[in-house]
Amino acid sequence: MTSKRNSNNFLNLIQTQRNEKKNKKFKGTLLEYFDLIKDNPDIVKLAHKRLYDALGSHGIKVLDESNERCHKLFGGDSIKIYEYFEKEFFGNERVIAKIMRFLNSAAKRGEESRQVLLLMGPVGAGKSALTEHIKKSLDGQPYYHLENDAQRGEPLHLIPRSLRNQFEEILNVKIEGDISPVARHLLLEEYDGKYENFKVIESTFSQRARRGIASVPPMDANSQDVSVLIGSEDISKLDKYSEDDPRVLSLNGAFNVGNRGIVELVEIFKNEIEFLHTVITATQEKRIPSPGKHDMIYFDGVILAHCNEAEWNRFQSEHTNEAILDRIVKVNVPYVLELNQEVKIYEKQLSRSDFSAHIAPHTLKIASMFSVMSRLKPSDLLTKMKIYNGEDVIEKGKVKKVDIKDLREEARNEGMDGISTRFIMKAIDNSLSDSEKGMITPISVISALIRQTEEQLINEEFRTYCLELLKKIVRTEYLKILENEIAKAFITAYSEQAQSIFDTYLDNAEAYATRQNLKNRVTKESMEPDENFMRSIEETIGIMGSSRDGFRSDVTAYMFAKMRRKEKIDYTSYAPLKEAIETYLMSSVKDLARVVTKSKSRDDDQQQKYSEMVTTMIEEYGYNENSAEEVLTYASNNLWRDS
Ligand SMILES: Nc1ncnc2c1ncn2[C@@H]1O[C@H](COP(=O)(O)OP(=O)(O)OP(=O)(O)O)[C@@H](O)[C@H]1O
Ligand SMILES: [Mg+2]
Repeated sequence: MTSKRNSNNFLNLIQTQRNEKKNKKFKGTLLEYFDLIKDNPDIVKLAHKRLYDALGSHGIKVLDESNERCHKLFGGDSIKIYEYFEKEFFGNERVIAKIMRFLNSAAKRGEESRQVLLLMGPVGAGKSALTEHIKKSLDGQPYYHLENDAQRGEPLHLIPRSLRNQFEEILNVKIEGDISPVARHLLLEEYDGKYENFKVIESTFSQRARRGIASVPPMDANSQDVSVLIGSEDISKLDKYSEDDPRVLSLNGAFNVGNRGIVELVEIFKNEIEFLHTVITATQEKRIPSPGKHDMIYFDGVILAHCNEAEWNRFQSEHTNEAILDRIVKVNVPYVLELNQEVKIYEKQLSRSDFSAHIAPHTLKIASMFSVMSRLKPSDLLTKMKIYNGEDVIEKGKVKKVDIKDLREEARNEGMDGISTRFIMKAIDNSLSDSEKGMITPISVISALIRQTEEQLINEEFRTYCLELLKKIVRTEYLKILENEIAKAFITAYSEQAQSIFDTYLDNAEAYATRQNLKNRVTKESMEPDENFMRSIEETIGIMGSSRDGFRSDVTAYMFAKMRRKEKIDYTSYAPLKEAIETYLMSSVKDLARVVTKSKSRDDDQQQKYSEMVTTMIEEYGYNENSAEEVLTYASNNLWRDS
């Protein structure tokens, strides 16, 4: 009974959806199609414009000077962010902006509308993923085409040349192109030449159903056959129809399928040159040959190709390829050089996999440091990486001033080689599946990376270079991060101490700012503000010289304002002061952290501090018991070696 009711429910659901789909879709004659256009001329558009609109329709924002990332990383150039890509792609805003600029010009029928867009970049830089995402934007979008036309041509192509000007004016559209041989045959045979009666149907782009979205994989020379691009003649029909009858045509090539939408050419230069000529004709003349003895067929579509640098260089060096090169707009797709964005790539990949393991803090960041640094042209790699990441690099108590544009100019080709995202992903996956405790830490990832580098990097020089990077720079940087983190975890346990420094500082700063003496909290003695003490705190965050006065009155004013509002104040209330106090404490705590972490037998007091620290690491920093233990063991074996 219940199961019967259930299956009825399912059936209802299916049928309702099917009817809705049917009802909503337009089906009518060309005359009726005109009415649709009069209401909405936008439904008639060429492929580049359609794609540009589809991608842009998700929203566009402009990052300008006021945005910190733009300010620091794009040298203040404002940059457009296309929201369609925002959740999937990280750190390649410039690449996306270039692609969109190409589509925008092409949508306006500039020369770009007759060019191939080529994405060129190293392995795993995201060329295929970008292409896939671009194609997906069309999936499900509606469009109108002639019924039973394999080429799914624009219905307005039926209008004879002599009438086009008038129709363009009435309908407020541009008409470009001609009907396919198949449609022409239908027009003559079935509609008796009365094109106004030709049936027009509404349909949707669909990659899976091969409507308006096509992809051509690379083929080896032997199996290569242009029919993949332009379809073929159906031999079985040749005994029924004559060779020049369009009914023998089977227009199922990529340029037939991708008409009105997009054709992707995977690793384009792996194909034979004849193949490329068809591609070029399609872009330049907006026509493709038809199989057998038929006219050329009008084609309107975005042609998007990708390849890697080696293939590009080889192709480019051939003199005879000049004509083809002239019809290509190349956009470089380099690796990401911005650490925080690189991390997001792996977060995305992991969130989509089935691994549910615990990932200790800093793990993905450490792996990303390796990939990013491997891609930089040698110099002070850590500093460069931090600058590219928009971090302030402190040198001699001041923020180092570097013009990021200059840095980029110096190393133009940066990001076109180095460790790929796949390499990192594999190492992460390996250490995840190796992990017995269901977790990964920076330590296990570094080991996995070292192992993989040894096994898989074939170029000896690069392998040695990468091993150095991992064993020296990345590892040292991790130890530094870890040391600070452990000390910080101690300070949280020492919040009383921090609070007491805070109270003392505040008393002093207040007395200083109001030019009064202060009373000792215990002895009640009156005394001058303790200049040395205040300075020692302030120096930790670079407050020196004339900026001291300002800082002290800021702190005092801030705290008074809070107190007036009856808000609680403590050492965490004012961020710069909190930072200063923690840094100040850190230097004194590092010693203690070392002793307590290293010691095999802790006394009660030490044991308590140790457990408090572990609790902080777990509750506040995101470790679990196992990962906290692993990194602490690592710290006691590797940090503080000399003592
Ligand atoms: N900047 C990025 N943002 C988000 N994901 C990225 C980025 N770069 C690479 N990826 C991810 O890395 C993986 C590999 O990318 P993809 O397969 O697109 O590389 P490719 O450039 O086509 O490489 P190949 O030349 O080897 O074919 C994909 O899952 C992709 O999503
Ligand atoms: Mg690819």
